[in-house]
Amino acid sequence: MRRAVCPGSFDPVTNGHLDIIARASELFDEVVVAVLVNHKKQGLFSIPERIEILSEVTADLPNVVIDSFHGLLVDFCTEHDVRSIVKGLRAVSDFDYELQMAQMNRRLADVDTVFMSTNPLYSFLSSSLIKEVATYGGDVSGLVPPTVIDRLEAKISDAAEQG
Ligand code: PNS
Repeated sequence: MRRAVCPGSFDPVTNGHLDIIARASELFDEVVVAVLVNHKKQGLFSIPERIEILSEVTADLPNVVIDSFHGLLVDFCTEHDVRSIVKGLRAVSDFDYELQMAQMNRRLADVDTVFMSTNPLYSFLSSSLIKEVATYGGDVSGLVPPTVIDRLEAKISDAAEQG
């Protein structure tokens, strides 16, 4: 079985991520979306929330599964019999660091990285920008799934009530 991993923080998942996940699911028998658990960075959404959102928005993709990992991505790959990492490249600025990581991952384990060009509709998107725009009341519809919009609004109104 050809299995690939789409790793990331997904705080929150954007339509750019989803586009890559859906396209990867056409190329591989199984795609594992792996959420990085980073104890040094709290994030807006908790890991269980990110997993719940990802499960919801990939429910129509039967060969996509959601998981989380901490530590090295290649260790997760080895444990789950994954030989390919799929990454989206938004612009040349992504390339230097992504190439460095791809080469390090290849050096560490027998795992290759497949780069996909991001859909130009989403090439300016990042989770951080989504959070910033949403926090100041900007319209992020069409850029993230509707459930993310609802959950962002809930987080923002909770924060306003508390603050
Ligand atoms: O969505 P992000 O935060 O840009 O995703 C980055 C991610 C999770 C793909 C990357 O930080 C990663 O692979 N982290 C795991 C730790 C690791 O393996 N580091 C060595 C990379 S060569």
